[in-house]
Amino acid sequence: MKNDKNLDVPKIVIVGHVDHGKSSFIGRLLYEIGEIQEEKYRELKKASQKRGDEFEFAFLLDALQDERDQGITIDTTRIFFKTKKRKYVFIDAPGHKEFIRNMITGAASADIAILIVDVKEGIKQQTKKHSYLLKLLGFEKVITLYNKMDKVGYSESKFLNIKFKLETFLSKIGIKSYSSIPISSRKGDNIVTLSKETAWYKGFPFIKVLDEYKIQENEKSEFIRFPVQDIYKMGDKRIIVGRIESGKIKSGTKLIFLPSNESVNVKTLEVWPKAKKEYEVGDCIGITLSDQIFVDKGNMASDIKNPPKLTNRFESRVFWLSKKKIFFNKKYFMKINTGEYEVSINKIKKIIDVESLIEKKKKNVEKNDICEVVIHSSELIPMDDYTFNKSTSRFCLLDEKEIVAGGIVDIGNYPDQREYKDNLKQNIIPENYAVSEIDRSIKYNHRPGIVWLTGLSGAGKSTISKNVEKRLFQKNINVFTLDGDNLRIGLNKNLDFSPEDRTENIRRTAEVANLFTKAGFIVLVSLISPYRSERKKARDIRPEIFREIYIEASLEVCSKRDVKGLYAKAMKGEIKNFTGISSPYEPPEMPNLIINTSKCSIEESVEKLEKFIIKEFSF
Ligand code: ADX
Repeated sequence: MKNDKNLDVPKIVIVGHVDHGKSSFIGRLLYEIGEIQEEKYRELKKASQKRGDEFEFAFLLDALQDERDQGITIDTTRIFFKTKKRKYVFIDAPGHKEFIRNMITGAASADIAILIVDVKEGIKQQTKKHSYLLKLLGFEKVITLYNKMDKVGYSESKFLNIKFKLETFLSKIGIKSYSSIPISSRKGDNIVTLSKETAWYKGFPFIKVLDEYKIQENEKSEFIRFPVQDIYKMGDKRIIVGRIESGKIKSGTKLIFLPSNESVNVKTLEVWPKAKKEYEVGDCIGITLSDQIFVDKGNMASDIKNPPKLTNRFESRVFWLSKKKIFFNKKYFMKINTGEYEVSINKIKKIIDVESLIEKKKKNVEKNDICEVVIHSSELIPMDDYTFNKSTSRFCLLDEKEIVAGGIVDIGNYPDQREYKDNLKQNIIPENYAVSEIDRSIKYNHRPGIVWLTGLSGAGKSTISKNVEKRLFQKNINVFTLDGDNLRIGLNKNLDFSPEDRTENIRRTAEVANLFTKAGFIVLVSLISPYRSERKKARDIRPEIFREIYIEASLEVCSKRDVKGLYAKAMKGEIKNFTGISSPYEPPEMPNLIINTSKCSIEESVEKLEKFIIKEFSF
């Protein structure tokens, strides 16, 4: 497998409003660094004069794209050039129709971003949209070029004014301006040499800024990410091939494969010619494994310590690229890393106005909108949050064959659903109970059970379960309530409301409920338990005696009731990760019973649940 030679060539993307001079800038740059033959330049200049037009460097770029007979490599999407220090490539010719699509689908992930703005016209909608796009793709800094300085008489105050406005906007979306250069593509100021016209400018010309720009390695590069591209069978050997997205791999490296969650060692490296002992980011390699485990295309191999999360539900920010509307519960195809999954969009959380960066009032997403959505898949998908790893958190959505959206994963408040299979290997052999469950049931005259009440805070879980508990007790039933708030005072006092801690809260509560059933009890669990996946795990401990009860009340109703005054605090931002406000709640898809407390009185609700329990668990 050959390595990607272009890896040491930094990839540049240049963005900005149409007509703010992207093509002229590239044309001028190529000319100034001697990539364009003088003869060609003169020929084009003459042609413009003949037509009575003033020569524009943008023409130069157009002509080059048309002819492609130059010494430099140029096609519609890539322009290579070299300075005294190194080679570079512009990864997408400006104005190219598929530009946004290419960028966002990750086909072209750039190392350096340049934002160009016309000082005379100032910041335009596309300036903002493209900046936002850069942020979406994980850029934290850009080189900003303030073009057409000649048209404003090289005015420092004009430059500072636009610079201030642009930087204010960029800082709002979390992008820093790495360097701000006043230039004129038409006259060539500050591109390769410093201009006399801008004596007030104390920085470097563009080319020096570029040459000194340090390409940041993926910050979390010590963690291995090796998405499986294919498996080659050669005799008995099974060679797993792919490109290392981060981290380093050598023979002996321990890897964990997701979603199977199995760990193995790398046995051999299959690279031709074998140039190194250890391979790293960007290297395309083949490996064989120490044990035969089942590996499939789309699996993700990573290091043991910090594997990606495994989830079938996540939040994401997407750029909607299609004229088609978003449909809920429609099947889309999601491509992430080397994997393909069937997914659906469950919720549009926000549509963001790129101009003002605030939420749009409208409900329908239109082409080129940026929005936050919740995506669901029936399979578990290995993925990283974009803050953790830029390259493994990008994806695109397809509707049939059309790419309808590109986005980044923001796992948000959803938990990791990876089960630690290692527990099974710890030589623990459980003892049998001296008194069996059947013996207890005969004595108490009812079967044990877990009645799991889930719902928003304030929906009425505790009120209903307390009343039901009293009534059942009076009927000689062994019953006990496990209430979230109560458990959080003792057993769960070291847990907060982060997704990880809620997951643990649910797990512990389910295990305690399970113990109570061993003692013959009917356990009423009153827990928000917001995640479907975790409630399913609770059910899976004793599915035959687990009943899920959805205590339903809308967020509006619960926040109006606000018995504990917590909604008011959460809305003021005084409580973070508050269910329904700043943390998700996933209602059950198929509960055993629904009690809607905005329609039923407390009395009716209690009655309904009591009846249900007696029917289900009577002996
Ligand atoms: S769960 O999500 O982990 O299942 P649990 O039912 O144990 O939650 O605890 C919920 C109770 O904690 C609520 O009834 C409320 O009184 C209190 N609480 C405090 N902070 C939060 C929060 N951020 N989100 C939800 N409930 C909270």
